[in-house]
Amino acid sequence: MLDYQSVSVIYGDNKPSLSDFTLRIQKGEIVALVGESGSGKTTAIRAAMGLLPSGGQIVKGDIRFDGQSLLYLTDNEWRALRGGSMSMIFQDSGTMLNPIRTIGSQFIEYIRTHKQKTKKEAWEMGWMMLERMGLPHSKTIMKSYPFQLSGGMRQRVGIAMAMVFEPRILLADEPTSALDVTTQSQIVREMMGLREKFGTSILLVTHNLGVAAYMADRILVMTQGSIVDQGDRQAILEHPSADYTRDLLESVPSMRGKRYV
Ligand SMILES: Nc1ncnc2c1ncn2[C@@H]1O[C@H](COP(=O)(O)OP(=O)(O)O)[C@@H](O)[C@H]1O
Ligand SMILES: [Mg+2]
Repeated sequence: MLDYQSVSVIYGDNKPSLSDFTLRIQKGEIVALVGESGSGKTTAIRAAMGLLPSGGQIVKGDIRFDGQSLLYLTDNEWRALRGGSMSMIFQDSGTMLNPIRTIGSQFIEYIRTHKQKTKKEAWEMGWMMLERMGLPHSKTIMKSYPFQLSGGMRQRVGIAMAMVFEPRILLADEPTSALDVTTQSQIVREMMGLREKFGTSILLVTHNLGVAAYMADRILVMTQGSIVDQGDRQAILEHPSADYTRDLLESVPSMRGKRYV
């Protein structure tokens, strides 16, 4: 479905921040990208969404979605794709909500930017999506302002918006890192549910090896812009081939000799 072919990204004229990145994600697959801060995880995700910050450019390789290259899309084609087959959640999706407008009015606007819907239809889609994301009192939430919700609820509203068009792939950049552990596990379970309910593929960026181990079918380990280890979850956790992966595993706290992962 999503196919990175030897992709390199450069910011300015430094050495590549992403080097020869190759990854192919199948339908319904959950892949986790792990690695320390600055290893190129966000760059990999943003490259696929056509959202590299200015100065960043793909200098090598190709990224394809259903066989079609994403490197030469027009603005209109991007708008259709981002509001349809591909969607993205950020660490701070919740904080990107406008503080002085209700969730409902923002949800309606978001839907109507991408799809021709009446306000009433968009309202229905919005609260139903909140409901499906397991948010209680979804109609009340639609009428609320962001400050009236907890951080976890705001983040779930952000995820609901990202899911409203039932994307075939969700690119999630540290979606739970800013949240407390309880909310984190709730959101992790909800994301797993997306695959169950909609068959969504997920590319998950996290520095939390526990989250990666819980969610992902396959784990890629990155450092300094390159993939240094990859394999199915079991293989990575039990037989890491790279020293770097072993270090990463060592850094996870253990309790009575058992690692949390
Ligand atoms: N906007 C930017 N301008 C210049 N360099 C950047 C920018 N964003 C990222 N980089 C470079 O790319 C590297 C990888 O960053 P990033 O993809 O954000 O890593 P990660 O998400 O793994 O923390 C960083 O070390 C930095 O050098
Ligand atoms: Mg990042």
